[in-house]
Amino acid sequence: MIFVTGGAGFIGANFVLDWLAQSDESVLNYDKLTYAGNLNNLASLNNDARHVFVKGDINDSAHLCGLFFEYQPRAIIHFAAESHVDRSIVGPAAFVTTNVNGTFSLLEAARTYWQSLEGEDKENFRFLHISTDEVYGTLAADDAAFSETTAYAPNSPYSATKAASDHLVRAYHHTYGLPVLTTNCSNNYGPYHFPEKLIPLMITNARAGKDLPVYGDGLQVRDWLYVKDHCSAIRRVLEAGRLGETYNVGGWNEQTNLSVVHTLCELLDELQPKAQGSYKDQIKHITDRPGHDRRYAIDARKIEKELGWKPQETFTTGLRKTVEWYLANDEWTKQVQSGEYLKWVALQYEDEEEA
Ligand SMILES: NC(=O)c1ccc[n+]([C@@H]2O[C@H](COP(=O)([O-])OP(=O)(O)OC[C@H]3O[C@@H](n4cnc5c(N)ncnc54)[C@H](O)[C@@H]3O)[C@@H](O)[C@H]2O)c1
Repeated sequence: MIFVTGGAGFIGANFVLDWLAQSDESVLNYDKLTYAGNLNNLASLNNDARHVFVKGDINDSAHLCGLFFEYQPRAIIHFAAESHVDRSIVGPAAFVTTNVNGTFSLLEAARTYWQSLEGEDKENFRFLHISTDEVYGTLAADDAAFSETTAYAPNSPYSATKAASDHLVRAYHHTYGLPVLTTNCSNNYGPYHFPEKLIPLMITNARAGKDLPVYGDGLQVRDWLYVKDHCSAIRRVLEAGRLGETYNVGGWNEQTNLSVVHTLCELLDELQPKAQGSYKDQIKHITDRPGHDRRYAIDARKIEKELGWKPQETFTTGLRKTVEWYLANDEWTKQVQSGEYLKWVALQYEDEEEA
């Protein structure tokens, strides 16, 4: 089986769903169920014996170690993190605790387990660390895109803690020989995205008749990747990535935030028109956030050349699928926004640690 951390979050849940749609290899999904973890994302796997969910914190090395020895995973895929830049500005401590200390505890548990393996089990074991392009800092309009050799220059507590975790992962390879792989991916979008992030926030606010808040002039540039393309890149790196290497994953899709919001409004105008006017009328520019990186762009040629991976969706096709998913899944959004699922988690896990 494979061991996934953070598999109840946005990308992790998409990964688990895609994995089990394509393979019968079981998944142990280890997640603390913070505000961002949502078991409703995995409702279609209820009663599916191939999915084992365990509630736990990646800072709990002993718990992790016990599970590794019990379930004998052949790979660990590490998604768990505090992931929202705005939250990292307001409360950076949780980011250090989970992204740095948590990754360290996980690496320690993985090292103990991996060192106990022998022969092919030891040789074939993999630790795949999921990271972000934000570790590279910011680019000017005419700078070359981030490549795997771009120097790290993180600018927010989020990106700084992710950068620290990347360095720990690298060090465990060079110091202990742990068979690690790292992916640094650009902004993801798609189903099950928590509505605090740009794209789902705009879709849900637009439909609720609320303002569409755009930071500053809205001309910050990001590369966007449809989440299922990210999942296929991770599967490919796990399958064939070279040990100790990092792979940038991107969509070749640079967009300003403002143009993302405009495209979303146009899609909504088409798919769910307002009685009067356009959703664009709800756009409101607000004060920019501190340390806001101007541009990220990913050079994803290495993964294409070495591993033959390319994104399947364009921004146009991926964004349409995303809007359609939100229109068809009102109940999911309502539950997330009402905190219903958090109440359910509290009830479900009050007296037990494992399910
Ligand atoms: N979302 C993006 O655009 C993006 C882009 C590139 C890389 N990434 C990286 O991908 C990973 C997943 O991102 P996401 O957007 O799905 O995040 P998310 O916030 O939606 O999900 C994170 C998950 O981790 C869990 N978690 C948090 N702290 C934990 C802890 N201490 N122990 C166990 N579980 C814990 C949460 O409950 C949640 O289920 C992160 O490592 C992030 O840095 C995200």
